Parts: sequence; C-alpha cells; structure tokens
Amino acid sequence: MTGNGMNRPDFDGPDFDGPDPAGPGFAGAGPNGAGPGDGRGDGIVSAVAADEERAFESGLRPRSLDEFVGQPKVREQLTIMLTGAQRRGRPPDHVLLSGPPGLGKTSLAMIIANELTVPLRMTSGPAIERAGDLVSVLTSLSPGEVLFIDEIHRIARPAEELLYSAMEDFRVDVILGKGPGATAIPLDVSPFTLVGATTRAGLLTGPLRDRFGFTGHLDFYDPDDLVRVLTRSAQMLGVRLTPDGAAEVAGRSRGTPRIANRLLRRMRDYAEVRADGVVTHDVARAALRVYDVDALGLDRLDRAVLDALVHRFDGGPVGLTTLAVAVGEEPGTVEEVAEPFLLRAGLLTRTPRGRVATPAAFAHLGVDLADSLNRSQTPFLFNE
Ligand SMILES: Nc1ncnc2c1ncn2[C@@H]1O[C@H](COP(=O)(O)OP(=O)(O)OP(=O)(O)O)[C@@H](O)[C@H]1O
Ligand SMILES: [Mg+2]
Repeated sequence: MTGNGMNRPDFDGPDFDGPDPAGPGFAGAGPNGAGPGDGRGDGIVSAVAADEERAFESGLRPRSLDEFVGQPKVREQLTIMLTGAQRRGRPPDHVLLSGPPGLGKTSLAMIIANELTVPLRMTSGPAIERAGDLVSVLTSLSPGEVLFIDEIHRIARPAEELLYSAMEDFRVDVILGKGPGATAIPLDVSPFTLVGATTRAGLLTGPLRDRFGFTGHLDFYDPDDLVRVLTRSAQMLGVRLTPDGAAEVAGRSRGTPRIANRLLRRMRDYAEVRADGVVTHDVARAALRVYDVDALGLDRLDRAVLDALVHRFDGGPVGLTTLAVAVGEEPGTVEEVAEPFLLRAGLLTRTPRGRVATPAAFAHLGVDLADSLNRSQTPFLFNE
C-alpha cells in the first residue's frame, strides 16, 4: 500500500488533469472509460466508476503483479516483458491495455510503474486536445518514466500524429509557423514507456496500434477470481465475509472487480444494519434482493438491450445500428460496452444477419420463447 515509485513530478499544464496517484482522492486518470452519454454511471452494477467511489477504489487497488488477481495470461506476459526490460536496463515496449470498464486497466498501468520503480505520469485522451498539450507532457518526462494515457482512443488527431515519432524515436517535431514558412524543430524526449488504456480498441487507428509492442486484452473474470478479489477487499476493509457469501456476490458481479467491490460495500451496510455484521450467503441474497441486483447482475443498459431484442424485435436477428437506436445509445457503446458481457453470459449471439437473443435471454426476462416464435413467424394473425 505504499506509493512506491509512483510519485508524479509536478506538472502544471492547464489541460493536464491526471490526479496524483499517491493522493487520497486518486482514482484513475480523467473521466471514466465508457465516454459521455453512455448512461452507465448510475446503477449499482454499472461497470463505470461513480465519482464518490474513486477514493474507495484507490485504497483497494492491487499494487504489484502478484497482488493482481486473475488475468493469468496478461499477467505472465507482462511479468516476462518487465523483467526482460529491467535486466537490459531499458524501458520496456509501449503497452496497450484494452477491455471493458472496471477490469483493471488503470490498476495495471500503476502496477507497471510500480514494478519498474519509476514515476508514473497520468493523463487521458480527452485532456490532450492540442499537439502542444502533448509536447509539454512528453518533453518534461524523466528517463524511464511511464506515461499513462487513459481513453487513448479519444486523443486529438494532431496529438496522435506527434505521438508516433515520440513512441518510435523518442523525438517530437514541433512545427513553428504556418504555410511555406513553417519550420520543424526537433525536440528530444527521454526514453519512456507509454501505457495506453482503452475500452474501445476498435476505435484506435492502425498506425497508433502498430506502435505498441505489447497489447494486453483484459477479459471478464471468472467467479472464482472474483471470490479472491472479494476476499482480499473484505480483509482490507475489515468486512466479515464467509466463503459462500463471497460466492453469492461474485456470481452477480458481471465478471467485473469494480462491481464486486461496490457490491461488497453494500453488503457490509446491509449486514451491519439488518444482520449481525457478517456477510453470509443468506445475508448476501437478502441484500442483493433489496438492491435489485438480478441473478446475473445485469445493469440498465444490458437489460435495455435484451428487452429491445426480445420484445421489440422478437429475439432478432437485428442489425447493431437498429438495436442501438432502440436503446438510445451509440452503436459503439452497445457493441463494446454492453455486448461483451451479454455474449459472455450466453444471452446474446452475433450472426451475419444481426444480433440474436438466446433462449437463455428469453428465460431471463421471463418471456415464453415458443409464444414469441409463433408471433414472429405469423405476423398477419396479429394485424389489426
Ligand atoms: N485484478 C484485480 N485484482 C484486484 N482488484 C482489481 C483487479 N482489477 C481491478 N480491481 C479493482 O477494481 C477497481 C477498478 O479497476 P480499474 O480502475 O483498474 O479498472 P479500469 O479497467 O481502469 O476501468 P475503466 O475502464 O473504468 O478506467 C480497482 O479499484 C481495483 O480495486
Ligand atoms: Mg481506468
């Protein structure tokens, strides 16, 4: 729990909004990963962090690769890469971390700096509006520093182009003036490691993606891993949690540590107020009922997507854009924020003709699949 190696040198640029990782209010760089208008910051099982939750989250963040639960593949690959780089005495390759919100991208970025015992500088794509913003960050890096750019898919294009030479040759060309009289002044950048995080890997341009030597894709966690996350958090928070209580909460956390931790806090409240303070299986079940967390832990957008598929499109197939319009979201948000978990939970499938609700989705919504099939195959019977 020390901020070992994570002190960020002072930076007073106006658009640099990365919070101090060692400070009490720290909770990840910049706005949440799912972007504005996604409407997912509200519910108890939303994967996006609520503002008041950030300080709580920072206290629970794993600080080393050993403490980081699950994701064995990414963890092993990173361990090898970081150890190799340390032996050679060179900064490791640039790292891209992708995956849905709340799975540990920011935590891993901090761990990378921590493991290398180098400082970490944090910013986010939306904070870098102009190339100049990036130049001042890059030219003030100390040798070996880790630069974390959260939501890197939202970086402004001119800044992105500048990043290419910085990543490749540790050099940036600052253009002074305009038109034929413009001159390029090359500036050296200390060797650094860029760690980029994105919930929307598909929006990254090819040239940017190609400049990362390592890409780690974080996947949803198994219930067993979430039990380990919960047990660890319960220990740190002093919450008494039984193994079957942990299993019950893990099963409804949508494969997401952030949600597991949030539910744990609610379980603690319930256990203290309505029970004897211990989160057992029965206490957890009762609390989850009170907080309206369904058996699969679906959130508002997940349920809206399933509802639309089942009720408005008779289970599909329906195209992504039509489905997105039906739930009032961007197609990208439906595809990259809601669908991964629905696919993983076996509630939705993607076919060449569009999205289809599975029998499990009908069952989950309590809709009779046979009825619905009859209706969609004989629509004329229902014409008024
Ligand atoms: N592997 C893990 N082991 C233990 N705790 C974890 C793990 N991954 C994430 N967490 C917990 O979940 C919380 C959210 O993780 P984190 O902020 O790193 O997610 P993220 O992928 O950066 O999310 P976003 O896309 O919203 O930025 C952290 O506070 C941490 O406590
Ligand atoms: Mg993050």
